[in-house]
Amino acid sequence: MPATLMHISDLHAGPPFLPEVAKALTTHAYDLKPDLLVLSGDFVQRADRGHQWQVAREYLATLPQPRLYVSGNHDVPLFNVYHRLFQPYRPYQRNITTTMNPIFAHAELNLYVVGGDTAHGITIAGGYLNKFQIHAMEAAFAQAPATACKIAVLHHPVIDPPDNHESEPLANEREVVAMLARAGVELVLNGHVHFFHVGTVQELWGTLRWLRTPPPPPARRMVLCTAGTATSQRGRGPDHGKNSFNLITIDEQTIRVQPWYYQRAAQQFEPQQEYCFERDRPHAG
Ligand SMILES: [Fe+2]
Ligand SMILES: [Fe+2]
Repeated sequence: MPATLMHISDLHAGPPFLPEVAKALTTHAYDLKPDLLVLSGDFVQRADRGHQWQVAREYLATLPQPRLYVSGNHDVPLFNVYHRLFQPYRPYQRNITTTMNPIFAHAELNLYVVGGDTAHGITIAGGYLNKFQIHAMEAAFAQAPATACKIAVLHHPVIDPPDNHESEPLANEREVVAMLARAGVELVLNGHVHFFHVGTVQELWGTLRWLRTPPPPPARRMVLCTAGTATSQRGRGPDHGKNSFNLITIDEQTIRVQPWYYQRAAQQFEPQQEYCFERDRPHAG
């Protein structure tokens, strides 16, 4: 039986939030009945504003379970420097979840999903996984059954999509890619850039900057999937003014990614072209 994931990102509760789009998103979440709802960060526009967290909380309560969350850079306080530096995760942990590195394991569906927190108070828009987190994520994936499809969820893209000119990528992308490849991860889900993109690590490898001759990319195919903003006015680049989520279907042979875009006239999201990737499982290669 194929597993389905609904990948939602960048809700941005606050001034950019679009309640009518959010309502349509909830309807689809119930109609599509995904096995897991993945929310890849930026729940609020400004983490310093208590009211925005209340809107985010109330909205999340309308969505079905199970859900897996990671935090985004907007979920860390900005204006209160003390909170940003010394209690960066407090509002997120109070309002969304205390779990910063969640795991969703499902034996029947053969899924093993691990989230990582790339948003830290020390940086404002950028992100990274520190050494401890890299080690912890690799150790978490080591617990997965050999046949499971391993999926990582981060807020920031591990390699910047080609059309990103506005937001900051992951600072230590090469280290993170190397860990994900060692761990046998087949799919990475992220948000942050506010437009849809999907491609393999091999396709995007050449866009990384190297001081010397670049080493070859990881041998196994890893699919990097970026969700647009689901419910905010902050769509960027090719998705300026647009809202979308991704429906992901995983079976024995393939990982399929289909973006659904909100159509204002119809007041619903509609499926677009599906992207199909053959799986390249560690035990097979
Ligand atoms: Fe965002
Ligand atoms: Fe972000």
